[in-house]
Amino acid sequence: METETVYLNGDYVPLADAKISVMDRGFLFGDGVYEVIPAYSGQLFRLEDHLERLDKSLRAIRLQNPHSHEQWLNLLTPLLKKGLDQSVYLQITRGTAPKRDHAFPQNVTPTVFAMVTGITPHSDPDNGVKALSMEDSRWKLCDTKAITLLANVLLRQAAVDNGCTEAILFKDGYLTEGAASNVFAVIDGILMTPPKSSAILPGITRDVILEIARKNNIPCSEQAISKADIKKASELWITSSTREIIPVVELDSEKVSGGKPGPVWKTFYKLFQEHKQSLR
Ligand code: PDD
Repeated sequence: METETVYLNGDYVPLADAKISVMDRGFLFGDGVYEVIPAYSGQLFRLEDHLERLDKSLRAIRLQNPHSHEQWLNLLTPLLKKGLDQSVYLQITRGTAPKRDHAFPQNVTPTVFAMVTGITPHSDPDNGVKALSMEDSRWKLCDTKAITLLANVLLRQAAVDNGCTEAILFKDGYLTEGAASNVFAVIDGILMTPPKSSAILPGITRDVILEIARKNNIPCSEQAISKADIKKASELWITSSTREIIPVVELDSEKVSGGKPGPVWKTFYKLFQEHKQSLR
């Protein structure tokens, strides 16, 4: 088997040789941020948008970006395989400190890590996934892509324990997002998603879908969506860079869109693939 090469602090090394100190603040505190960037046929998709979001996440945790956008492109490109659809995971932590102290250490070099995995978008027009609605138990900085993901992990696991693919989260009776995805609903013929706020991660896939809708004159709206609204939805989707657009066909054991991917999902699946194709 071919050994996977990853990037760690300036070196490209086999995954098994990529080691960091147990004093790394990512390990001790979850003190870091990350990005997940899809690459189609070896070309990074919406790289600039992902790097701008990375800049915002780093500003939010008061950490300087160790690399310019051009340096990131040069750093990530050697990890990609030509012709393959993959996703890049990159993470930056505050680095390794001499002692465990919550306050920031002085003069510490951030730890930079990147690796690549495959992408498996949902393409089955006859089947979708099940989801579980749950109270959003996360913190108030959900627009920061922090590696501190324990709440997301527990929420997703509760969904998996119930035979579901994703947890769909509600805060004070209103939809926020999925444990690792944004959520769209088709309600009264309009494609809706909650507006950007600190309660959700501003997904890049979310932006792409809204752009596709507007370009094709498909009615869409960024608005607050209540639990009662969701019950009326004729379609429900979850979206992310690694999974693109997945139709949810069952929420809390109740069928959505008759238990099959709906017509609006089918349209967007096609438009999204065409959009990807146009970039190849
Ligand atoms: N997660 N909301 C949350 C909480 C997420 O974790 C993600 C993606 C999204 C979708 O964002 P984007 O379309 O930019 O991927 C929304 C990544 C894929 C992850 O954590 O692996």
